[in-house]
Amino acid sequence: MFDAQAYEAEINQAVDYIKSRTDRRPEVMVILGSFAGPVADALEDPIKIPYAEIPNWPRSTVVGHAGNLLIGKLGGKMAAVLQGRVHFYEGYPMTKVTFSTRVMARLGAKMLCVTNAAGCLAPGINPGDVVLVTDHINMLPNPLIGPNLDSFGVRFPDMSKAYDPDLINIARFAAYDLKIDLKEGTYIAISGPSFETPAEIRMASIFGAAMSGMSTVPEVIVANHCGMKVLCFSCASNLASGISKVALSHQEVADTMAVASKNLTALVLESVKRAQL
Ligand code: HPA
Repeated sequence: MFDAQAYEAEINQAVDYIKSRTDRRPEVMVILGSFAGPVADALEDPIKIPYAEIPNWPRSTVVGHAGNLLIGKLGGKMAAVLQGRVHFYEGYPMTKVTFSTRVMARLGAKMLCVTNAAGCLAPGINPGDVVLVTDHINMLPNPLIGPNLDSFGVRFPDMSKAYDPDLINIARFAAYDLKIDLKEGTYIAISGPSFETPAEIRMASIFGAAMSGMSTVPEVIVANHCGMKVLCFSCASNLASGISKVALSHQEVADTMAVASKNLTALVLESVKRAQL
């Protein structure tokens, strides 16, 4: 059985370590998904803490995910930027997948801005598009299963506004001002690591999903549990299975994300700058 007390102690150890390294207290947590690296370049005077140095912090095994925590000003706000995340498909338990989110909540972060690369399956969304995630469908185990961590939040947290309506509007206006054609839709989280079958994508489409990916939703659920406001941008890296005529490859994802990351970076920066926390 999951030991909630031991888990909270692990979280506190990581919090204490980060506090010992810097006086900076992040208001915003930013998770950079695959190939969203340029956001980190926009950080002013960041301090860098390699994940390997933070007690109990999990490290990603996926190519394209650097393993550093950066803390510095982003759009005028103190931000903790995570270069790389861990996924459920890597074999980590949900407590590890969402560890960093709890650490950041405990450090005082009020907002999570999360990015990812995902397959697109809705008409009108194409590879290279940035999509504002307005809702999700969770096909992964719920990260809150187990004893409730009362010091973070309630047993049955509301998910009717999992993606903060004010931040959604801020992102819409930012996109308008930046002249970026920001799409919108629901993200469905599958476990991976295999891509979906065409039948699974047809199901996701009937469910109303626009994007399908293997990350993000665990962190979003935990951020909501901790009372953080969430903003999520998904980059369409490829047409989802069955929509595309060719087999999916990681290389295809990498090539398209280089194009999308420019728009993504501008949107993250501008939205964080305009956010009212
Ligand atoms: N499906 C799931 N996850 C993904 C995809 C996809 O097509 N592309 C990038 N991550």
